[in-house]
Amino acid sequence: MPNNNLWRFLDDNGTFVAKNPHSISRLYFPLANEKGMLSSITPSLQGDIKLDQHSFLLPPACTEDFRSSRYSRDFWVYIKNKGVWSLASGEADRSIVEAGMLWHKTIRTSHRYGIKAEFLSFVPASDHTVELMTIELTNISRKTLNITPTSAIPIYGRSADRLRDHRHVSSLLNRIEIDRYGVVLTPTMCFDERGHNINDRTYFVLGCESNGKAPTGSFPTIYEFLGEGRNLEMPEAVLTNAPPKRKAEPCMQGKETIGALRFNTISLAPGRSKLFIIAMGITHKEKPGDIFNKFNSSNKIKKALSDTKRFWIEKNDSLSLSTGDKTFDRWIKWVAIQPALRRIFGCSFLPDFDYGRGGRGWRDLWQDCLTLILTDPASTRENLVNNFGGVRLDGSNATIIGKKMGEFISDRNNISRTWMDHGLWPFKTLDLYINQTGNADILFKKALFFESKKRDTVLDHILRQHKRPLSKMGKHGNFLLEGGDWNDGLDMATEKGESVAFTAAYVGNFIDIANLLEKIKYRKDAIKDLRRKAQRISKHIQKKEWIKTKSGHGFFNGYYDNLGRRVEGDRKNRVRMTLTGQVFPIMSGIATKKQIKEIYRSAKKYLWDPKLRGFRLNTNFGEIYPDLGRAFGFAYGEKENGSFFSHMNVMFAYALYKRGFAAEGFEILDSIYRMCVNTKSSKIYPGLPEYFNSDGRGMYHYLTGSASWFVLTMLTQVFGIRGEMGDLLLDPKLVKEQFTASRKISITTYFAERKITVNYFNGSKLDYGKYKVGKVKINGKSVTSMPIDRKLFLKLTSKSSANTIDVTLHFNNVKV
Ligand code: G1P
Repeated sequence: MPNNNLWRFLDDNGTFVAKNPHSISRLYFPLANEKGMLSSITPSLQGDIKLDQHSFLLPPACTEDFRSSRYSRDFWVYIKNKGVWSLASGEADRSIVEAGMLWHKTIRTSHRYGIKAEFLSFVPASDHTVELMTIELTNISRKTLNITPTSAIPIYGRSADRLRDHRHVSSLLNRIEIDRYGVVLTPTMCFDERGHNINDRTYFVLGCESNGKAPTGSFPTIYEFLGEGRNLEMPEAVLTNAPPKRKAEPCMQGKETIGALRFNTISLAPGRSKLFIIAMGITHKEKPGDIFNKFNSSNKIKKALSDTKRFWIEKNDSLSLSTGDKTFDRWIKWVAIQPALRRIFGCSFLPDFDYGRGGRGWRDLWQDCLTLILTDPASTRENLVNNFGGVRLDGSNATIIGKKMGEFISDRNNISRTWMDHGLWPFKTLDLYINQTGNADILFKKALFFESKKRDTVLDHILRQHKRPLSKMGKHGNFLLEGGDWNDGLDMATEKGESVAFTAAYVGNFIDIANLLEKIKYRKDAIKDLRRKAQRISKHIQKKEWIKTKSGHGFFNGYYDNLGRRVEGDRKNRVRMTLTGQVFPIMSGIATKKQIKEIYRSAKKYLWDPKLRGFRLNTNFGEIYPDLGRAFGFAYGEKENGSFFSHMNVMFAYALYKRGFAAEGFEILDSIYRMCVNTKSSKIYPGLPEYFNSDGRGMYHYLTGSASWFVLTMLTQVFGIRGEMGDLLLDPKLVKEQFTASRKISITTYFAERKITVNYFNGSKLDYGKYKVGKVKINGKSVTSMPIDRKLFLKLTSKSSANTIDVTLHFNNVKV
């Protein structure tokens, strides 16, 4: 079993408990709602709260800030005759985090102060952009405690851009109001030298006791709360138990603000508890008080919490596994929720993601749709058509996706760059949609072109996207690398660089488009043309890009650099090999079965790390390589330079499964899972991070396209449940190791808006290749055709109740 000493699961919804998580640096948890409230929280309540790049309530926090800054949520107690204690960060004898879909609880105990503190945090699944926090104090000593509580939540209230640039000047815009329940900040303007705007956002911290009783007053500015020469670790107002203010005074304006709310002094008998409620929000039109009214009692909070839990659990109800490995079944719940998190957070707004100003990339947009299509295709249809509106007439596309549907931005920070792989992803996603639903008519829906008033069919958009790279041929006969491909780090070979990897990927699409057009009886000449091109390029890659090393290992070259030199193969005393260069020739069908075996052997030799048991993205090139890209400026083993990059690993597994190499595919998925739950090195909460570094540490947790691909691979390949032009195919590729614990493996998911539980029975625990699908029963009725005709499937199942499909796996005497 992996060495998991950080957390353990408590239930099948993925609720977990972590002991002593404070001892791990960089650990964080996401809290958010679909209205756009974005928070991150650490075991000691650090992290930030914001709506977007320009509206931060708590100041922007990246993982490095956790080590040094207490500029975040806190709650203090002044205990008569004992002293002061910060419940979030003061010394504690015991600390625990419990968390679930999507709520977070920190429990800290101090025997010295005789207090147990429980912080519950969540962003309600409602229309309100607010984060809620309750603080429950329990007297664990033998004497009655006389306690004066004070919250300490800095209200930064402005753009992340002002963190250093005009930090003080922008505080002069602050207008502070002392509300009966706390502090409200509405800056007069949004500071921006390119053109100042009147600010329309209000930031607030309001609080009360569990019965709604208001605080006694507040310390609304950082200066008066801390006192001269002090910091957030020793606020003078708490140390001296100073009296708070009840109304705003002119001298408070234009100052750094804080939601330091002083509550009534309480007498807490041994064993008794007291609950406080804090709401931290950012509003545009709604009045802070109106939002606060929705959550200002313990009953209201209880209701909001249970609604929030239900919302996320239902959202995540589309994939449940019963594989005999309970930890895996629960872990995958966190993977399955990740695409939804990236839709909300984009790629900039969790503490590891210290880049970008919001929005998602083009590739991410399409890949996150994959999971949604599998579980709720009906709701994605309009989105898909709309997303094609990001394609330009020349087949290139906008690179940043805004928050609103159909909102596209040409490029990030006005850096215009073309990623040569971008044209490929929309079709992959659309093809899945068409096969899951049978709705090929979507190909003929009209969509706009980006930066143009013209419209044409979705199919026309796709064909333009696949025509474009053909006009960008390099001298070795592959598509030019241009600004980069899937690997964002290969960005310095814009003239002569070529991506063989993604030329192969496009070939796969040419074939799949041709297959699709054939099925819908589209024009024969277009189909012929696509097949001819696919054949020509496949042949070229087969003939020219297959390399043999001196040691006798074979694999594909994936790239040419900016001087037109082949990147992979023997180089002085080392071998250069990339994982990406192998994945796409396999996925597209270019690599023969014999070559796949050979590639796997080479990947095991050059990319597999026997200690961490995973595949690296590339071997160590041993140089900075400015003729290829910034990736090689990164330390080896980090990010796009040789880390254990989840996304490419999962796509490797997908490609292998697709080609019938189930044992190899399983080995990869299993290796990723084990790296995640081996928390001794991964040091993350449950879920799939973007990559693991050479220490095995999980980096850039939650917001990664690999989560979508993991779900796709599990569902459509491992369990083999997928649509074929709307009909249901059951084509499992489960290996015998998966039947170790039980002869039955089950999955609950959706197909054609029907909730189905598919049970695979493998009485003899046969391995993949040794069995074939035998008897199939839908709700007890035998079905003989495979794929199962959609109409028949709909007839035998019901929308209003759960449906069962029993599948017996029989011995197969024909070799697969
Ligand atoms: C990230 C980006 C993705 C890019 C990849 C490699 O991967 O989101 O667009 O292709 O790095 O540079 P992800 O975080 O999705 O795993």
